[in-house]
Formats: sequence, C-alpha cells, structure tokens
Amino acid sequence: MLNLKQEILKVLEYAVWAPSAENNQPWLFRVGENELQIFFDPQRELLFEPHHMFTFLSIGALVKNIKIAALCLGLQVKVRYIFHDNLVAKLSFEPGDKRDHDLFPYIKTRVTNRKRYFSKPIADQILKKLSIQKDNIAVKIFQDKTIIRRIAYLVMRTEKIRFEIKSTHEELYHNLRFTKEEEERKRDGLYIKTLELGLLGELVLKILRYWEIQNIINKLRLNILLSIPSYLLIRSSPCVGILCSTQTDSMSYIRAGEVWQEVWLELARNNLYLHPFGAPPLFITALETGENSFNEGQQRSLGKIKEEFSALIGEGQKMVMIFRIGYAPPPSAKSLRRDLRVKV
Ligand SMILES: Cc1cc2nc3c(=O)[nH]c(=O)nc-3n(C[C@H](O)[C@H](O)[C@H](O)COP(=O)(O)O)c2cc1C
Repeated sequence: MLNLKQEILKVLEYAVWAPSAENNQPWLFRVGENELQIFFDPQRELLFEPHHMFTFLSIGALVKNIKIAALCLGLQVKVRYIFHDNLVAKLSFEPGDKRDHDLFPYIKTRVTNRKRYFSKPIADQILKKLSIQKDNIAVKIFQDKTIIRRIAYLVMRTEKIRFEIKSTHEELYHNLRFTKEEEERKRDGLYIKTLELGLLGELVLKILRYWEIQNIINKLRLNILLSIPSYLLIRSSPCVGILCSTQTDSMSYIRAGEVWQEVWLELARNNLYLHPFGAPPLFITALETGENSFNEGQQRSLGKIKEEFSALIGEGQKMVMIFRIGYAPPPSAKSLRRDLRVKV
C-alpha cells in the first residue's frame, strides 16, 4: 500500500530546492494523510517587502517544483489557494501514473550563478521558449547591447540606495554566512562563497559589516563604487530578462514565481545560468505603496528609475524581477536548505 504521507514528504524534499530571497526559505508545511498545507513564515520574510512580494514569488517557485516532482513520483495534485492569515494553499494528493517531466532532473541542480557570464550568444530557439506570456504574467527578454547597458546602469543606481538603508544593511549581514561551518549549521542565508566576490571583495564585505563604516562611505558618496560590480556583471551578459505582472496581488506573485521557476529550470536544462537582481522591483514597489523609509533624494531617484523601466517593459506592466542570463563556469559553491519544517 502506498503511504501517501511519505510520498508527500518525498515531493517536499525536491520542492524546497526552490530559490528564495537571501535563501530565507520563507515557508512552513503541515502534512496530513493526503493533504499538504503551505504557510508563509513571517519571521523569515525580508523586512522590506511590500505585498509579501518576494515571499510569494519564492512560494510560487516552490509550488512549481511540487507540481513537477509529484508528477514524476506518481502523484496527482490539486492546488487550492486560501490566503487566510499565514495559510497560503492547501494541496490534495492522490495516487496517479508516474510520468516523466523534462525539467524534473534540474530541480536540485538549478543554482544562482553570480560569476561573470561569457558573451556567447544564446540560441533563438531557447530564448523563444523563455519569452513566456501566461495570463497576466510575462517574461521579457532583452539582447540589445544598448538596452542591457541601460538596465545595468539602472540596477547600479538602485543598488547604491540599498547601501544607504540601515535596516537593509543589518538584514543582509544577519543573513550572511561567513564560514562553511556556520552555513552547514544554519542551512539558510547567503554563504559568502556563493557571492563570487574574490578575496578582496570578501574582505571589503567583512569590513563593511559595521554600519558606522558603511555610513561614512555613503556620506562620502562612495557607495556607488560598491554597485559597480553589478553594473559590470549585467553589462557583460548576453541577455537580460525582466519578469512582469500587470497586477500586484498575492496570486499574481505566486503565478509569477511559477513562471520564473519554469524559465530557470529550462535554462538549467540548457546549461545556462541565471542571476537575479531584486532591488529594483522591490524598491519601486515600495515607492508605489508608500511602505518605505526613503528620503526625498532617494524617492526622486527611484521615481526616475521607475519611469525608465516602465518605458522598457510597457504601459501597465509592473516589474517583479530582473535577471541576467548566460553561459558561465559552474559556481564556486551551492547554497543549502534547512531540514523540512513541518508545522504541528
Ligand atoms: C525573490 C528572490 C529575490 C532574489 N534577489 C537576489 C538578488 O537581489 N541578488 C542575488 O544575487 N540573488 C538574489 N536571489 C537569489 C537567491 O539569493 C538564491 O535563490 C538563494 O540564495 C538560494 O540559492 P540558489 O538559487 O543557488 O538555490 C533572489 C531570489 C529570489 C527568489
């Protein structure tokens, strides 16, 4: 007799390899005999997250993994979204036929690769597959060098602001794992080796952990220098993608997360890598909702950045994520996942 509960747990072992902001893994599970409940964990969310945007994007990616893994492990799954308190969805499972899915082998191997990408162009037929338009979600792919350079510049301008916000700075350092031992103990957050900073970059990161030092750099207006690496990484990539939604409700972010995960797995299948840049969508959304502590100068700057992005992605579209795509050597390290947190 098939033990469905055990099978659901097996599906989850795959699902949690979904990406999440700063590897915060903002999910919790309750597993029943043939049902799975997914909750978001407010304690693990980023501080600065209008509409729980990144939490729902990550849970969307998780749900995509669940659907693929269930199919390949011989389960049928029905997803019902709830959005009541912290409960996001109820999923019911029943035995079904075991099927193949061409993205299944990549659920556990997909990674964020922050290395510099080769300029080698990406074949049109791959790009065509990535340019998804599903309901109110769209993936827009840019290959034009001038546009990519402009996107790189806009990301750099936004990241400059990121260094100026004390709470964001503290959160980043709270989530950074400076040693292998710490990363293996906590199994979440950003392990320094995954950031591909080199020894000098790692030293700078360690020195900047003290807000007083970061603040002096900001006052001298040298923080723009810290965003130059992102500019160079994007500028040298053959392709940039922007994930868009016409709406900003929880369901749209979940759907966007599913689409994004499909793109990411498809890239992995083609030996291609992806590197997200979350600051522009997060800050622009925070500007729009008013849930922010931006000063006047930052608001003005973000207002201009928002206008330029709107011109790129089109009227009525909201940017949910920016990412660069390309071929590259494999990353130096892979992030870990916590043991399954099952809610009782
Ligand atoms: C919503 C979201 C936002 C992210 N933002 C960034 C970002 O701004 N910069 C970055 O380098 N990685 C970003 N990432 C990638 C995560 O840091 C990464 O998924 C996580 O550390 C787990 O690593 P993995 O993708 O290699 O499994 C983001 C991922 C998600 C899902």
